[in-house]
Amino acid sequence: MPKKLWGTRFARQTSALTDKFTSSIAYDQRLAKYDILGSIAHARMLGRKKIIAPKDAASIIRGLKSILQDVLKGAFKYDPKAEDIHSNIQEVLAKKIGKAADKLHTARSRNDQVALDVKMYIREEIGDLAELLTLLQRAVLKFAKSNSKVIIPGYTHLQVAQCVVLTHHLLAYVESLERDKSRLLSAKERSDEMPLGACALSGTSLPVDREMVRKELGFKRLTQNSIDSVSDRDYIVELLADLSILSVHLSRIAEDLILWSTREFNFIDIDFSFCTGSSIMPHKKNPDVLELIRGSVGKIHGDLSSVLILLKGLPLSYNRDMQLDKPPLFNAIDTIKSILEIFIALFGNIVIEKEAVLSRLHDESLFSVDLVEYLIRKGLSYRQAHDIVGRMVRVCLDKGRKISELSEAELKKYSPKFDAGIKGFLNAEASVNLKSSPGGTSPKLVKKQILRWQKKLKVS
Ligand code: ARG
Repeated sequence: MPKKLWGTRFARQTSALTDKFTSSIAYDQRLAKYDILGSIAHARMLGRKKIIAPKDAASIIRGLKSILQDVLKGAFKYDPKAEDIHSNIQEVLAKKIGKAADKLHTARSRNDQVALDVKMYIREEIGDLAELLTLLQRAVLKFAKSNSKVIIPGYTHLQVAQCVVLTHHLLAYVESLERDKSRLLSAKERSDEMPLGACALSGTSLPVDREMVRKELGFKRLTQNSIDSVSDRDYIVELLADLSILSVHLSRIAEDLILWSTREFNFIDIDFSFCTGSSIMPHKKNPDVLELIRGSVGKIHGDLSSVLILLKGLPLSYNRDMQLDKPPLFNAIDTIKSILEIFIALFGNIVIEKEAVLSRLHDESLFSVDLVEYLIRKGLSYRQAHDIVGRMVRVCLDKGRKISELSEAELKKYSPKFDAGIKGFLNAEASVNLKSSPGGTSPKLVKKQILRWQKKLKVS
């Protein structure tokens, strides 16, 4: 059993059950790198301020650097019996450099230490997540560009609505992912405060230089209240909330693609390499990757709830409950990263079923609003125009006729404002060309949007 950081005060050994139950080493190992970097900065400061002998500081730093090498190489042997990663590294350091190691924990508590480690971890992860989001945006953009001529029926209420350019639909994904990225980066900015020096909760009587540690670790600011420094977990909650929103976006994209890949829609074909089959039905090619993406949202929202509920009833400041913020945090980050990775690859493995999509564009209900707007341009009120077109649609549907086949005389019965010219825009191209309001689906505007995103995402 490794030596406890607090063992001397205890009259008896803790039960093996307690040790096992309270240990976090099984899941906080991934903080090792940050723990060591934080300790190096702390030791350097202690030496510089002569709080410990500079030669002890130097020896601690040397020892920590060599442990860091092992960690980075994957050669560090985690002790499954350690209480947590902080104790584990302390113990290994003591074995490596002897007595000087005992001075590392001067003017520090695991309470400010763990806050620091997690903040450093999150900072790095947010950088990775932002990069993955950019890669996904680029993959969507590439797919959009290579299908830039395709027009699809757009849906509201999952009922056929109006024609839209496929690229326009895909760029809607890119917009939402951009908001996700900016939310993550702003969470990073808000959490960019260095907590070390808060110690257990009240600060320390020793002459620490928090500013020096802040600079070495590259934080923007210092935390301003030692109690808040060890109590605050907003940076975890905020990240999980941002990941929850992101996961909803990813799930909605997945759902679009699942629908589009059904035989009923038949808008897209997803390559075999990203589908799976059925053990009983030989004909099946199922979009399981997308379904698992959609299904993962529950896990991530569960992680957010889990941390919120964990914190809700806690008095300030540090409570051991807080140790349990790590599994949900790590799970959410790992899950989102694996979703982003596979989504990026999947977008390169979809083809548009152009013929099938084209065949859906003959549905004239797609153009009903174009007819309404035509009449409005001719001076009718919106209500009159809507009534007239509504009647046309109903009669045509009842009689199995098409508006484009009505004679001019028949058209004029609905409104004298109609003439045969309207038939010119009862097609998908004309329909999308008409949508020229800023942000609309006209191909000209969509092309500009592509250029805007190419510039923003640095792709050519
Ligand atoms: N493993 C603990 C955690 O993750 C570290 C802090 C423990 N602090 C303490 N006073 N027991 O929160």
